Amino acid sequence: MGYKVAVVGATGNVGRAMLEVLAERAFPADDVVALASRRSLGTEVSYGDRRLKCKALDHYDFSDVDICLMSAGSTVSKEWSPKIAAAGAVVIDNSSFWRYDADVPLIVPEVNADAVVGFRKKGIIANPNCSTAQLVVALKPLHDHAKIKRVVVATYQSVSGAGKEAMDELFAQTKAVFTMDEVESKKFPKRIAFNVIPHIDVFLDDGFTKEEWKMVVETKKILDPKIKLVATCVRVPVFIGHSEAVNIEFENPITADEARELLRSAPGCIVIDKREAGGYATPHEAAGEDATYISRIREDATVENGLVLWCVSDNLRKGAALNAIQIAECLINRKLISAKQKAA
Ligand SMILES: NC(=O)c1ccc[n+]([C@@H]2O[C@H](COP(=O)([O-])OP(=O)(O)OC[C@H]3O[C@@H](n4cnc5c(N)ncnc54)[C@H](OP(=O)(O)O)[C@@H]3O)[C@@H](O)[C@H]2O)c1
Repeated sequence: MGYKVAVVGATGNVGRAMLEVLAERAFPADDVVALASRRSLGTEVSYGDRRLKCKALDHYDFSDVDICLMSAGSTVSKEWSPKIAAAGAVVIDNSSFWRYDADVPLIVPEVNADAVVGFRKKGIIANPNCSTAQLVVALKPLHDHAKIKRVVVATYQSVSGAGKEAMDELFAQTKAVFTMDEVESKKFPKRIAFNVIPHIDVFLDDGFTKEEWKMVVETKKILDPKIKLVATCVRVPVFIGHSEAVNIEFENPITADEARELLRSAPGCIVIDKREAGGYATPHEAAGEDATYISRIREDATVENGLVLWCVSDNLRKGAALNAIQIAECLINRKLISAKQKAA
């Protein structure tokens, strides 16, 4: 007998990707229930070759649910995750609300799977920000080999990272530019079509944005608190797939060839690094894929033990849905949970 899985936020970008990934990976679920707000009551979403009718979160009884995959934002998660956990389901949450709680593990299975046991404290496991997830997958094998001291990262983040309405806005604006209609901005602070915006999430007192702060704090929590990191997060007019230009300073020497070899055999990584036109990964190829693609690996002669690289991944999959489902698989493979119906 398999597990009962609830997907909260099933009509959203991440929720739909979760249902897709659950079906693709033949996740051992006997029952999958799609939940969203009351607005979506009865809306149909795809799960493999089946269609599921959405139910409303606020009327749902979680007492027979084993695993709840949450992707309905921080406000919903703050209120609902503790209630769902109290009903006996393990919550794997995609919002930022629980990520910095010392009693909630923040997990990228390729990097810190062992920390997953910490879920017992609150019954909640957090999934990192999409930009952090792909970054730590690429950094982990390099850190194990040569110890990272400092990272400088610039992101090129797709609009799907801001939800389904943000994707609609890029589409509508692009069309409006071509038809010479008025270009309206509601989700983004400036026009995103044919533009880039160096601002994601709110501004903090020190001038950094919260998205940039998240990358610092989450990299420390997942990989190593000693790593110093500074980020500039930028929204670009790409629908799916985040890219990152990453400068890394190590304590010990490491060559570009060594880094390439380490990354080639690292879990979750695919190296595409030919020094010729098109010999690198772009978001277009990463969309719909599970891997973190690493390209343009080179030595940085301006610092001691420095490397530069380019890394690309599907933000809805490794950055959210896939990572959450890998966490659930980790709980099952390590026998940390059992199906309630089986246990009864
Ligand atoms: N997109 C990414 O790359 C990414 C990566 C990592 C983490 N995340 C996080 O994942 C979460 C979801 O992101 P998304 O991109 O999927 O957003 P989205 O496309 O805007 O979808 C939001 C989902 O939340 C549901 N929802 C909203 N209010 C609700 C309520 N009161 N009760 C129940 N359901 C409610 C919506 O249902 P209705 O359709 O009924 O409104 C919808 O299913 C966010 O916390 C986001 O920060 C996103």
